[in-house]
Amino acid sequence: MASHQLLLFQLLLLLSSASHARDTISPGQPLRGNDTLVSPGAGSYVLGFFTPPGSNNTYVGLWYAKVPVRTVVWVANRADPVPGPVERNARATLSVSADCTLSVADANSTVVWSAPPAPGAGAGRCTARLLDSGNLVVSDASGHVAWQGFDHPTDTLIPGMRVGMDFGTGANMTLTAWTSPSDPSPGPVVAVMDTTGDPEVFIWNGAEKVWRSGPWDGLQFTGVPDTATYMGFNFSFVNSAKEVSYSFQVANSSIVSRLTLNSTGAAGGLLQRWTWVWAAGAWNMYWYAPKDQCDAVNQCGPNGVCDPNSLPVCECLRGFAPRSPEAWALRDNRGGCARATPLDCGNGTDGFALMAHAKVPDTTAAVVDYRAGLAECAQRCQRNCSCTAYANANLSGAPGHRGCVMWGGALEDLRVFPNFGQDLYVRLAAADLGTCRPTCLRSVCTQFF
Ligand SMILES: *[C@@H]1O[C@H](CO)[C@@H](O)[C@H](O)[C@H]1NC(C)=O
Ligand SMILES: *[C@@H]1O[C@H](CO)[C@@H](O)[C@H](O)[C@H]1NC(C)=O
Ligand SMILES: *[C@@H]1O[C@H](CO)[C@@H](O)[C@H](O)[C@H]1NC(C)=O
Ligand SMILES: *[C@@H]1O[C@H](CO)[C@@H](O)[C@H](O)[C@H]1NC(C)=O
Ligand SMILES: *[C@@H]1O[C@H](CO)[C@@H](O)[C@H](O)[C@H]1NC(C)=O
Ligand SMILES: *[C@@H]1O[C@H](CO)[C@@H](O)[C@H](O)[C@H]1NC(C)=O
Ligand SMILES: *[C@@H]1O[C@H](CO)[C@@H](O)[C@H](O)[C@H]1NC(C)=O
Ligand SMILES: *[C@@H]1O[C@H](CO)[C@@H](O)[C@H](O)[C@H]1NC(C)=O
Ligand SMILES: *[C@@H]1O[C@H](CO)[C@@H](O)[C@H](O)[C@H]1NC(C)=O
Ligand SMILES: *[C@@H]1O[C@H](CO)[C@@H](O)[C@H](O)[C@H]1NC(C)=O
Repeated sequence: MASHQLLLFQLLLLLSSASHARDTISPGQPLRGNDTLVSPGAGSYVLGFFTPPGSNNTYVGLWYAKVPVRTVVWVANRADPVPGPVERNARATLSVSADCTLSVADANSTVVWSAPPAPGAGAGRCTARLLDSGNLVVSDASGHVAWQGFDHPTDTLIPGMRVGMDFGTGANMTLTAWTSPSDPSPGPVVAVMDTTGDPEVFIWNGAEKVWRSGPWDGLQFTGVPDTATYMGFNFSFVNSAKEVSYSFQVANSSIVSRLTLNSTGAAGGLLQRWTWVWAAGAWNMYWYAPKDQCDAVNQCGPNGVCDPNSLPVCECLRGFAPRSPEAWALRDNRGGCARATPLDCGNGTDGFALMAHAKVPDTTAAVVDYRAGLAECAQRCQRNCSCTAYANANLSGAPGHRGCVMWGGALEDLRVFPNFGQDLYVRLAAADLGTCRPTCLRSVCTQFF
């Protein structure tokens, strides 16, 4: 065969293998260790077997088809690998059974990992299909979803994947960092949606809270105010009886963006947004958290305020003084601040001071009503002697600010931003309101905090 004929033959072979790239497995048609599934449509994702650098195990993972640096964004059997490297596992399988159970087995058909179908699914003709979104979906003849990868994120959020709680399916979608770059098994660092009060995302390192997003204010998380400067993505936050979740979409499929949780940050947990820069052929870090000293959870203790542009960074809320002046002087701020002048709620003389540019306090125990407006919120908080602060819950849409969040007790994990952030109204005794009475002006009050 002449060399140009050989080339043509190879090209045809390449084309035919490309056109035969499949996206589906069915009973008796498993995916082999030396083969891959490719998502249809734009063909953005590849699902196949891989061995992380430095590992001697084989996993089923998902990576980008067009990004030349292999970047694994999802792992099926992260804690249950097939022993041995992928080169020696060509006969391992990912298969779907007649009852819609997805499983990974070694060359001897010993099952190392399996995902049972949701109750009610499994009515024959089960298939597992890789969608163009990267979601691996197991469904039965009647189209019931028996299991889907997007209900089980690994350490990475890709467009359309959610972090949060789906109360309908019971799926609790969290990000869990890999144990190490060579071991995808779940490490101690987890990003979780706390659905109580006004929902917010926490990063945990074991039992320690590493970072708090703050509640969704209708546009962004109050602790991630630079979201307003993002281009090319949009965000969805759902807070309903069925679901509380956060997800993002890209505006254009040429934008490749992912959010990852890594255990290597200085704080022992690092959330990073990456975008692929086609021109540079590299990932660019777009955003990360925690970012500064004031992102550490409860840096200044109860009723303390953390201001990264102030020295020292911790101050007490106006009308409050350090609980332990000795400890505070040594910059041990854990004890926080106590009210200097007692409230006088019974006589109705208490008022509220505006604190601008706030990341509102921890909302885990806050009371939220998305329908009430700010004036009604102020009245409710004034009347309720255990209400210590209030703020708008929703800053999106015309005519703008609405919704009511009310805090009781100490205000925890409060910080300010130089330019971004929300208005927070803090209950003070009449004597501490000073020039802020009866209505507090931003220009007058900001300096006190
Ligand atoms: C994978 O290996 C099997 C047998 O070991 C072989 O029949 C098959 O063609 C291989 N598939 C690919 C895509 O290389
Ligand atoms: C890797 O795993 C294979 C199969 O379990 C084993 O035979 C081999 O000794 C291991 N190699 C190393 C370097 O651990
Ligand atoms: C498969 O079975 C054979 C024979 O029992 C055994 O020698 C081999 O180690 C097994 N391989 C794996 C991957 O378990
Ligand atoms: C979701 O899982 C996390 C950690 O695994 C847990 O802390 C949290 O309470 C769960 N959420 C719900 C609503 O069950
Ligand atoms: C976590 O970050 C470190 C340092 O940047 C990096 O080397 C490592 O690959 C990351 N881990 C994972 C699982 O991506
Ligand atoms: C976000 O962008 C996606 C893709 O462009 C679009 O389908 C969706 O409607 C947008 N959502 C919002 C809330 O703008
Ligand atoms: C998406 O971005 C590419 C590259 O910037 C551009 O050529 C294309 O027109 C964009 N598509 C849409 C629908 O905006
Ligand atoms: C109201 O104020 C008066 C005078 O300061 C004080 O004596 C009284 O205890 C207050 N009443 C309540 C219910 O706080
Ligand atoms: C926030 O306000 C927008 C615009 O009015 C509205 O569409 C959205 O449903 C509100 N969110 C909540 C949680 O009430
Ligand atoms: C008063 O406020 C506290 C703290 O926000 C809250 O727990 C309580 O339910 C409120 N009581 C009434 C009657 O609204």
